[in-house]
Amino acid sequence: MSMTEHQSLTQVDQSARPSNFVNHERLNARLSEMAKIGATPGGGVNRAALTPEDAKAQLQLARWATDLGLFVTRDAIGNLFLRLEGTQPELLPVLSGSHIDSQPTGGKFDGIYGVIAALEAVQAIVESGCAVSRSVEVVAWVNEEGSRFAPSMMGSGVYAVLRSLDAALHLVDAEGVSVKAALQQLEPLFTSIPMRPMGLPIYRYIEAHIEQGPVLEKDGLEIGVVTGIQGKHTYKVTVTGEAAHAGTAPHKTRKDALLAAAGMVTALATELCDAQDITRFTVGRLNVYPNAPSVVPQEVVFSVDLRHPDRELLEQLSALVPEVCNRMAAPCSAHVERLYTAAPIEFDQRLQQNIEAAARDLGMTYRFMLSAAGHDAGPIQSKYPAGMIFVPSVSGITHNEAELTHPRDLTNGTQVLANVLWSLSME
Ligand code: GLV
Ligand code: MN
Ligand code: MN
Repeated sequence: MSMTEHQSLTQVDQSARPSNFVNHERLNARLSEMAKIGATPGGGVNRAALTPEDAKAQLQLARWATDLGLFVTRDAIGNLFLRLEGTQPELLPVLSGSHIDSQPTGGKFDGIYGVIAALEAVQAIVESGCAVSRSVEVVAWVNEEGSRFAPSMMGSGVYAVLRSLDAALHLVDAEGVSVKAALQQLEPLFTSIPMRPMGLPIYRYIEAHIEQGPVLEKDGLEIGVVTGIQGKHTYKVTVTGEAAHAGTAPHKTRKDALLAAAGMVTALATELCDAQDITRFTVGRLNVYPNAPSVVPQEVVFSVDLRHPDRELLEQLSALVPEVCNRMAAPCSAHVERLYTAAPIEFDQRLQQNIEAAARDLGMTYRFMLSAAGHDAGPIQSKYPAGMIFVPSVSGITHNEAELTHPRDLTNGTQVLANVLWSLSME
């Protein structure tokens, strides 16, 4: 039954709209509960993917869902699903969620907000008494950050078949632990949760997320209707030199991998920038071997994260990474491996309109905007229609323990989400 055959959101008794059942206290209490899992002394969280903290947060989510009567399942990469069964369960479901993992010094909202907001939206739909035709599923994608296991967007990427399950299972962390081994280690915690097949088809996917930038706050707006995500390429650069004695080895015979890497990073920073400050270039990780004060560095491994909203320009800039590294390598050598390629993406037009209509109906102020950060909705949009709702980030601070979004804004985003999910579930 289509939405028009049934009842449109505006025709529904306004007081019965799911947004009216979003519980501000419950939403914020659940976020506070999640913030305790992996809490850092600096006031943020450290919940790396597939660690006991990540599992603990998934299990807490599963308990809340079970109490609400949702059906909980997991897939082979560790994505978690909480399903509200619709009256027509044979129809493709509407999905909403985000990720639970964080950066090592992450904030209390990046990712987890979208998961808790989706759960709250589903609970609001249940409590409103509004029927749903399509099932609605909350999803927690595994390893969005890519901090422990690079590259990022692992769970959503496998789901959308952008990468193979087998390749993801063989990714290893800095200690050499594979995704497969990490999943096996956590397996005993999840024995009561049934497995589901990988990549079941989706009708529509909507993700709520904090903006992670300063735009909404600067414009004094409540909601961001996200139009797309800028492109991102990542690399692993290995610089090979030769270990030598810091006291005895003459400089002219040294092959100092750190000095070569420093030259590469500096040259890349100079060449991968523009006057408008649109290109984003970051070296966030640099490991030195053997990392001993009296040994000339034998090897350096560093990361490159490069982003740009224009597909062609991103390709051109990206081609400079191996070129610059090889040019700056002497007397060492460089090996440059591209880890991740995400072209800029545009979200489904109609979902953008649905989100705009929901914000407008609720009397909220909004704007259309591009996401500078990556999100699971990116991989999902490559296969199914997807959309995103942003709420303001205080001072745009994120990937930082000081990350903050005001409770009122968290609730606003959840109210928009609740109405959008409900209307999609009736299509
Ligand atoms: C996701 O956190 C990203 O790096 O954009
Ligand atoms: Mn995120
Ligand atoms: Mn993040």
